[in-house]
Amino acid sequence: PPVTLAKERTKLALSVSHPLEPLTPEEIETAVAIVRENQSLAASVRFNTVTLKEPPKQTVFDFNPGDPVSREAFIILLDNATVKTYDAVVSISEGMVKSWEHIPNVQPSIMLDEFVECEAAVKANPDFQAVIAKRGITNPDLVMVDPWSAGNYGIAEEDGVRLSRALCWVKANPTDHGYARPIEGVIPVVDLNKMEVIRVEDYGVVPLPPKDGNYTPEYVKDYRSDLKPLEIVQPEGPSFQVKDHEIRWQKWKVRVGFNPREGLVLYDVTYTDAGEERPIFYRASLAEMTVPYGDPKPNHYRKNAFDVGEYGIGSLANSLTLGCDCLGEIYYFDGYLTDSRGDVAKIENAICLHEEDFGILWKHVDWRTEQTEVRRSRRLVISFIATVGNYEYGFYWYFYQDGTIQYEVKLTGVLSTAAVMPGEIPKYGTLLAPQLCGPIHQHIFNVRMDMNVDGSNNSVYEVDIVPEDDEGNPYGNAFYAQSTLLPTEKAAQRLIDPLKGRYWKIVNPSKTNAVGYPTAYKLMPGDNTLPLAKSSASVINRAKYMTQHLWVTPYSPDENFPAGDYPNQNPGGEGLPQWTEADRSIENTDVVVWYTFAHSHSPRAEDWPVMPVANIGFKLKPLNFFDENPANDVPPSPKNHGSKHACCS
Ligand code: CU
Repeated sequence: PPVTLAKERTKLALSVSHPLEPLTPEEIETAVAIVRENQSLAASVRFNTVTLKEPPKQTVFDFNPGDPVSREAFIILLDNATVKTYDAVVSISEGMVKSWEHIPNVQPSIMLDEFVECEAAVKANPDFQAVIAKRGITNPDLVMVDPWSAGNYGIAEEDGVRLSRALCWVKANPTDHGYARPIEGVIPVVDLNKMEVIRVEDYGVVPLPPKDGNYTPEYVKDYRSDLKPLEIVQPEGPSFQVKDHEIRWQKWKVRVGFNPREGLVLYDVTYTDAGEERPIFYRASLAEMTVPYGDPKPNHYRKNAFDVGEYGIGSLANSLTLGCDCLGEIYYFDGYLTDSRGDVAKIENAICLHEEDFGILWKHVDWRTEQTEVRRSRRLVISFIATVGNYEYGFYWYFYQDGTIQYEVKLTGVLSTAAVMPGEIPKYGTLLAPQLCGPIHQHIFNVRMDMNVDGSNNSVYEVDIVPEDDEGNPYGNAFYAQSTLLPTEKAAQRLIDPLKGRYWKIVNPSKTNAVGYPTAYKLMPGDNTLPLAKSSASVINRAKYMTQHLWVTPYSPDENFPAGDYPNQNPGGEGLPQWTEADRSIENTDVVVWYTFAHSHSPRAEDWPVMPVANIGFKLKPLNFFDENPANDVPPSPKNHGSKHACCS
């Protein structure tokens, strides 16, 4: 009987050590079984995502090690036959479905299984085969079909249809780099519920570019030969400790989570100062990203991938058993999710944890006494890498000994290429090789940070460095840091201003440091730009979060995704623009800070055939959070350790 089954499985699942532990494979299995049993699911139902339903914050704050943990899963399901989407909350602990809700007029993210099935459906379609034959392609097995999301352009016949507008390339042989040969002007439009090609759009033949673009060892014959070994040795092991998903490293404590939508999540980040564990944030994650393309041609104007909300960046995480870019003593966390049939899928080594030497931390030479003090900086790195079709994104959180936190995205992989006519110089892109274009595009990220600076109630200020007015400035030299409180949601929709050295500080108005300043962390923007699509463009409405670098909202458990819960094919307006219409107070309350940062990518020849990493991100630095340099107690490095040219005290 179903109830017994669920209860028996539940016993297994009750052994987690903390309410924010990611769902275990047993818990995922149990949750899937409970839904199947209770809702009598048809074979046409796909499990879009199965994730931990995070408990209320207070439950987490009140939790003591050893307490029983009540576990819930949040499940999104799609019935391909009835074209209906459901949100379910399942109590794993109680073996029951707590809520089951039909969500009308939405499309959940495109699932990995759909990628595979969509490619097969396109290749098998006779119309598609006829269209590629016109281009001299006779073997569909060598064709690559990338199932791009369709967006929303207000077209009535697309309403309610689960769509992909696929883009295609062709390889010369099975190991050839397919992105060298785009099948330009061809768009198979696929109904993903029926897994049928609705039509194949053909905008005219553009010849395949003539040159190969290979980068793998079987093709690259002339490797440089002057590299000597460089080894990172940690003879006593790493300086971090890991218990389940809690990491301790020097004075830092961080808990990691993983889910199919956001990938890596950080929880409950604290820094121990004079014996006190001081919180900095409760939760941080990449909450959305959008990649708008700037080419108005038929294959490209609808390219606006939302890699979090439309594809599930976590479900696309690399297993780092297949190659990790980190050196030294590495600890890996596995990621667990499901395939679309509800079977548990393991991403082995999904999250990488390691330490890095990071140059000097601080130094001073007292020229009178000739005493030199220098300390080496070390950082803790928590990262994962996702492959979204052609592109790779590495997502890195860094923790430093001076209290700094940094977030960095490393962009690499392969450009989503286009073919142009012989002799054509593209305006909306760059020639990478003859007749091969790298279209211009942007990568726009939004990181959601549920701040908790020395406690839940925080306020946010904008700080500009400004010259003093004439009054009080007789010598003309005076300038100062001007802080302005951002009291409400609308007041807190802000842009960067590098010429004013603008930053934002998240302050705890009830706590002060030794000299009486309220304790704070400052959000320091890095490289940034704004979206370049016009405000009338579909993508701007669908991803309004892109139009401001800073957003601040009062915490609400249902407000997690800046472009809404279901951005795939969504007409827009949801998420941050909708919530902040209320213009709620964000003063001295539990605030969530959303930072948007954009990388405009005008491709270079050097980005082909595979791109060297481009970097973008931001930092959070303590601002009068401590009484003095918290890295004052970092000891000198041992002298002459290992190397014959060791330097420094
Ligand atoms: Cu790019």
